Amino acid sequence: MKVELRNISKKYEGNSFYTLENINLEIEDNDFCVILGPSGCGKTTLLRIIAGLNSITKGDLLFDEVKVNNLLPKDRDIAMVFQSYALYPHYNVYKNMAFGLEMKHEKKEVINYRVRAAAKLLSIEKYLFKKPKELSGGQQQRVALGRAIVRKPKLFLMDEPLSNLDAKLRESMRTELVSIHRMLGTTTVYVTHDQLEAMTMATKIVLMNNQIIQQVGQPEDFYNKPKNLFVAKFIGTPTMNILEGTVENDTFISNLNDYKVKLTQEEVDLIKAEKIEKVYLGFRSEDAQIVSAADENANLIMLVINIELLGMNKQITCEMTLGQNIIITTGKDDKTKLDTKCGIKINKYHLFNGVTNNRIG
Ligand SMILES: Nc1ncnc2c1ncn2[C@@H]1O[C@H](COP(=O)(O)OP(=O)(O)OP(=O)(O)O)[C@@H](O)[C@H]1O
Ligand SMILES: [Mg+2]
Repeated sequence: MKVELRNISKKYEGNSFYTLENINLEIEDNDFCVILGPSGCGKTTLLRIIAGLNSITKGDLLFDEVKVNNLLPKDRDIAMVFQSYALYPHYNVYKNMAFGLEMKHEKKEVINYRVRAAAKLLSIEKYLFKKPKELSGGQQQRVALGRAIVRKPKLFLMDEPLSNLDAKLRESMRTELVSIHRMLGTTTVYVTHDQLEAMTMATKIVLMNNQIIQQVGQPEDFYNKPKNLFVAKFIGTPTMNILEGTVENDTFISNLNDYKVKLTQEEVDLIKAEKIEKVYLGFRSEDAQIVSAADENANLIMLVINIELLGMNKQITCEMTLGQNIIITTGKDDKTKLDTKCGIKINKYHLFNGVTNNRIG
């Protein structure tokens, strides 16, 4: 099912501020759309609006081109999965999954078939006649998913469904959810504040902050072409390194320490045309390399204050100024030494307007 939000704004009763402002979004049929953003940015509010659990202050919501602003949740053909599994404690797994279908007076054989098929898909066949409290968190979350799947909705709405699971289980459930989505093809809107979940699961990411959508696109768009400084810092670990400075002739010069990075003619032209005075230059830890402090290709020269071996690679922390550091990712066998000065050569960077914070180029 296609979901369309047109100019949707939301102000809760009693609040003086809008939680959402002019949200425009198209979620295509079969999309796995991840709504991403920091705590309090309005993700749950947006999901509940799609579910019909929150009213819309302004704007329109359309399902397959039909306006559904006033359609009751039960008539929307959707299934929701929450962070808390909200299973019925007194019913066994089978009954928990069958319950919604029984309410719809489905035939017993249909219910039996669908519950068993979903249980098989989720590998919980063994637990069908156990009570929720006899299951682990991950198993309970599967039951909650199963309950949604058996209803064969046109739309799945999920609000941080994995956040109560431990790191290992989250990882495997991520993969499972993606493969279930591939099999069923049901349009899914999935809320999370975890950028890794968004990057690994989404066909489309919607990144929100300050009541509005900051960027919509495929995961790689966010990594390769962040639209503004907020997006650049939100996506990727470690956080993108940022230098603040000005541009003279064809060179970026940082305010601290006069570090220099030569820019392309195209970038210089854009900065001149838009009369941008303050510029942020950002680079990811993996887009720079450590060189000798004497190397004339070094863009920055800094003191190494921490080295962490993460297994596959090392993270080298260098001090730019007190409390402001730069992190570089190197191979695991890198020989950089603690408390020495090293050069940093930047291989790829992003430029942002220092006033609007928008991407340049
Ligand atoms: N029922 C409500 N009444 C008044 N204000 C609310 C209500 N629900 C949410 N808000 C406000 O709307 C804003 C967004 O809340 P929301 O729960 O949508 O954020 P979120 O992005 O889901 O956050 P989190 O990641 O912490 O779950 C917050 O400022 C919150 O205080
Ligand atoms: Mg929330």
